[in-house]
Amino acid sequence: MGSRKIAVLTSGGDAPGMNAAIRAVVRSGIYLGMEVYGVRRGYNGLLNGDLIPMDLRSVSNIIQLGGTILYTARSPRYNTPEGVKEAADQCRALGIDGVVVIGGDGSFRGARDLTGAGIPCIAIPGTIDNDIACSDYTVGFDTAMNTAMEMIDKIRDTSQSHDRCSVIEVMGRRCGDICLNTGIAVGATATLVPEVPYDFQRDIIDKIKLAQTTGKQHFIVVVAEGVSGGFAGVEKIAKKIEEVTGIESRATVLGHVQRGGSPTLRDRVMASSMGAYAVDLLNRGVSNRVVAYTDGRITDYDITTALNMPRKFDTELYRTSDRISI
Ligand code: F6P
Repeated sequence: MGSRKIAVLTSGGDAPGMNAAIRAVVRSGIYLGMEVYGVRRGYNGLLNGDLIPMDLRSVSNIIQLGGTILYTARSPRYNTPEGVKEAADQCRALGIDGVVVIGGDGSFRGARDLTGAGIPCIAIPGTIDNDIACSDYTVGFDTAMNTAMEMIDKIRDTSQSHDRCSVIEVMGRRCGDICLNTGIAVGATATLVPEVPYDFQRDIIDKIKLAQTTGKQHFIVVVAEGVSGGFAGVEKIAKKIEEVTGIESRATVLGHVQRGGSPTLRDRVMASSMGAYAVDLLNRGVSNRVVAYTDGRITDYDITTALNMPRKFDTELYRTSDRISI
């Protein structure tokens, strides 16, 4: 027998498309005859009993909105054995027999623990970073990349007018996917990702100098957050480039602008498919799974297995980026 009264929550950093996923969970659940509740502010909402009944119209007019109507949080209180037990007890008291968690790997650990405490959970990858090993795609990634691309296109206009070098930090502490894809899309001369150690002379200066010999006069360097480490990082890189090459350089940290905005079509459709799939699993009595997009289709993995998978970095795309950035 599958779940009959389910709850949905968003946890960790928000991502464009989370609302589309919430909408799909609510509508699929109701379609299958379930009662559906929205939990506010992640796992904190379970601990505080902050749940609201959702109906078909409570998710109207949200598919196009960034952020999450359920709010989100990281919950240190939940991340203890006592916290998990308390949350599970709250669910039992309210008759909740299934939870859909939308978030990143930290949120998945929470879903695994809650399942272990007796409440069946399904996780959906919702994070701009695309850093979930079992899935080729995470909800929010496409929107974030497009936002970064649009912002850097604007920076390029002014960089070109002034014959400058612009060094831009994009998000991604441990994952260079936003950086690599955006770097290609904006025609960056150098792209620095956490997965590949870089050499300042070889990977930045030599490339700029080579491009200069063929007439290039303005340069874009895209750096992942995990490489740069904040404004001081890109500032330092820009300063050093100016010192060594004499090219006037500027640093920009794009920051949280990448986390907001109306989700792209890809994020809306992916979130809708994953949301509906998650509810199907709960309806069939399946639990402790991560919904994933693998080899062009929606599938699912055991959460513990998924958390232990090594993340793949697209070395082929990195090579292409390197080859065509000259
Ligand atoms: O995981 C998403 C993400 O935006 C990362 O790219 C970034 O490192 C982190 O969250 C920032 O977190 P916060 O919003 O807590 O500053």
